[in-house]
Amino acid sequence: MHPQNFIPRFVTLAILSASLFAHTSLIAEEKRKIDLEKDKVYEHVIKPILSANCTTCHGSSKSKGKIRLHNPEEIKKSESVVAGNVDDSMMIERILLPEDDEEVMPPEGKKRLSSEQKKMLSWWIAEGANFEKTISETNVPEEIGTILASLEYTPPIVIKKAFNLPEPAQAANGDAVTAIGKAGILVMQLAQDTKYLSANVINVAKSFNDAQVKLLVPVKDHLTWLDLSRSGITDQAATDLGQLNMLTKLHLENTAVTDQTLQQVGKLENLEYLNLYGTKVTDAGLENLKSLKKLKKLYVWQTGVTQGGADKLKEAIPGLYINLGWQAPKEESKPEEPKK
Ligand code: HEC
Repeated sequence: MHPQNFIPRFVTLAILSASLFAHTSLIAEEKRKIDLEKDKVYEHVIKPILSANCTTCHGSSKSKGKIRLHNPEEIKKSESVVAGNVDDSMMIERILLPEDDEEVMPPEGKKRLSSEQKKMLSWWIAEGANFEKTISETNVPEEIGTILASLEYTPPIVIKKAFNLPEPAQAANGDAVTAIGKAGILVMQLAQDTKYLSANVINVAKSFNDAQVKLLVPVKDHLTWLDLSRSGITDQAATDLGQLNMLTKLHLENTAVTDQTLQQVGKLENLEYLNLYGTKVTDAGLENLKSLKKLKKLYVWQTGVTQGGADKLKEAIPGLYINLGWQAPKEESKPEEPKK
């Protein structure tokens, strides 16, 4: 008898959703004042200005004017910054142009830089365009000091990495990504600083079928989160699914998949999270998952999986958390058969 069987349903639901959320949540930290002792000029003052105003066009996904400004290497390569020389720095020239000038940056129609932001960028370049120094290691004229004292810093949103994979050298094939998007599947870069992709079929779940899983195979080196929950997929999609070997997270809950699909899922050796809630899988299917040594979380609530089957899998994969959910006390409260 397991005491958890008596935990009221809502509690288990809350735990289930809390742990799902923790797994995917974006961690946004609080705004704070700039620390004039410890904070760095580039990281805490300059980078946020560039990130908020320039990198949508000059960043990891676009390089308008053939320059990118989202990290020190790219800024150096852009040659838009001449250390110690504000007058020769194209970045400053462009941001100081009159608002209606054809060449002003950000371009006409976009949000203007404030005069404080312009002064910050000029100060940074005048002081050597250094990427490492703290504010306290840099010469701070009085006017700049006043602005810095009133500045706030918001740490960038960081995605809690649910995986530990080497970053792909190349971005995913653009045509393949477009084809996936056209089928109504939501496909996105997982985070700003990675080429990995996530895909979900929430918008088209009802019409999504086995044939469409084929669209995902061309981006298999990049696709690491996939949500097919509540879609029309069946075991017919298993072979294609089995090729998506960079998946770290897979949602198959509330679909028609069975143990047959798990034979293929058992090949996805990078998998860390697998949700099979509300499917027809059984203990026999779990046998196929024993090779998934990175698996950390498995949801098999409302399936044919038993506590015994779950325990066997846990033996094979140390540290694995398996959620069997809530089970009707009626069935569970029957006294156990005496062992023969
Ligand atoms: C909406 C898109 C967009 C935004 C936002 C934007 N730019 Fe640009 N930028 C362009 C385009 C397009 C060009 C190429 C055409 C041109 O030179 O005007 C360009 C060109 C440049 C160039 C000249 C590159 C070269 O070598 O010719 C610099 C420098 C520049 N941008 C800096 C910035 C900075 C700094 C910001 C933020 C403060 C910024 N841009 C924001 C679109 C943008």
